[in-house]
Amino acid sequence: MEKITIKEYLSLYLDKKYESITNMANFVAIIKEMVEGLNWVGFYLYDGEKLYLGPFQGKAAVQTIPLGEGVCGISAKKRETLVIDDVHSFEQHIACDESSNSEVVIPLIKNDMLIGVLDIDSPRHNRFDENIVKELKTALKYLFDFL
Ligand code: SME
Repeated sequence: MEKITIKEYLSLYLDKKYESITNMANFVAIIKEMVEGLNWVGFYLYDGEKLYLGPFQGKAAVQTIPLGEGVCGISAKKRETLVIDDVHSFEQHIACDESSNSEVVIPLIKNDMLIGVLDIDSPRHNRFDENIVKELKTALKYLFDFL
């Protein structure tokens, strides 16, 4: 049998009839299952002041992150994707799972409003190359219709 794609898998679970948080929860589960070599996948959501922990898969994590702090807070403030090839050499990194070695954070902007960020960790260094970042952004674009 041919392997199901991320988009096909998402299309089986995401639906406008479900709450945004429900669609986000299935989104992180699908990314964690489908993309190899990840130990933490989750959302930090923006409440207008700070980021707070949303749906995730992985070890228990820091509950809130001020804008401009940590990889997540910096990405959210700058509204820029950040790829950190070695989290141990990135001073502002906030450690949650000691097995994480690289990280990508992608901001979620809808109608020019910051919703939050997608945060993904890997135990491998340099896990997040251009291709995977592109793939993740495509998946996020798909999720946007269900938020
Ligand atoms: N590393 C993040 C904190 C969240 S954990 O990785 C789940 C950061 O520096 O913002």
